[in-house]
Amino acid sequence: MRPNDYRIQLIDRQPTRQDIVREVLTGLSQSPKQLPPKLFYDNIGSDLFEAITRQPEYYLTRAELAILARIGDDLQRLVDPNATIVELGSGSGEKTRELLHHLSRSAVYAAIDISAEALAAALTTLGEEFPDHRFIGLAADYLRPVALPADVSERPQVVVFFGSTLGNFEPFDAVRFLRRWADSLTPRDGLLIGIDLKKDRERLTRAYNDAQGVTAAFNRNVLTRINRECRADFDIDGFDHEAVYQSVPGRIAMFLISRRSHTVTVAGQPFAFAAGERLLTEYSYKYTIAEFHALADRAGWTPVHVWTDPENLFGLHYLRPQASRATLSQV
Ligand code: AVI
Repeated sequence: MRPNDYRIQLIDRQPTRQDIVREVLTGLSQSPKQLPPKLFYDNIGSDLFEAITRQPEYYLTRAELAILARIGDDLQRLVDPNATIVELGSGSGEKTRELLHHLSRSAVYAAIDISAEALAAALTTLGEEFPDHRFIGLAADYLRPVALPADVSERPQVVVFFGSTLGNFEPFDAVRFLRRWADSLTPRDGLLIGIDLKKDRERLTRAYNDAQGVTAAFNRNVLTRINRECRADFDIDGFDHEAVYQSVPGRIAMFLISRRSHTVTVAGQPFAFAAGERLLTEYSYKYTIAEFHALADRAGWTPVHVWTDPENLFGLHYLRPQASRATLSQV
């Protein structure tokens, strides 16, 4: 990033090593053992995820981009021209570029992403392409409450959450997360969110078991990261990748399966793995449009519009916060 470019501001609130060690120890102490999916996204994991999005089997990104490409007029009608775009987990910025082209009047773009490097790279590229915009990057865990600069939160806001990342939350946590945003916004604001649709098991399973093995490498990389950052001794090749579709409740469950019985040490604590034991690394919930609308309603959001791609693989939703009790009592 050009350090003297005043239009681009990067604020670093990344989780500390201690935070990461604490979360890993908590997850491995549970039965069955699990790890939070956000740990996937170190520098290598972020690159591997970008590679996943280019795999022929992983239709989600292409379907969402295809929707975005043709909804410019609708977005211009729905989004307040003075709104700040607040994107959660911006990744490479490819979808953001498409969005900003449609909303060229919205001159402030803020992104919150757990990977500082991915964020800096995305903002640098976007900064070159949109010379009249102001860019704010917050390298932070957006699962925790985050404070945006005051001048940003004073304007109307449209929160953008692409990629069906909400699917990586358990439904209860998804409601709690969306509820927190609804409570901090007003009915003039909005939420643009991509949600993968339920579909046949074959197609879903293939998307998480690509022939090139990129998803398997992405899954295993979390162990490499833990070895490096948490003084751990996982034998990476001692674990197999598995991703299965569980039709009830309708989610991909991704695991690392221990090939043999052995003990791993993490930050001085031993964890015994049985042969064949599954370590849960990610859920990826899929929702019909009606299911997502019901979830959003429980979280305080009113659906305004939904677009799907021609193959009906993916849904992009626009919602507004319901008038909260706080707002109603002011009226
Ligand atoms: C980021 N997230 C929505 C992806 C998904 O599809 O659940 C992560 C991913 N995991 C394996 N492949 C992609």
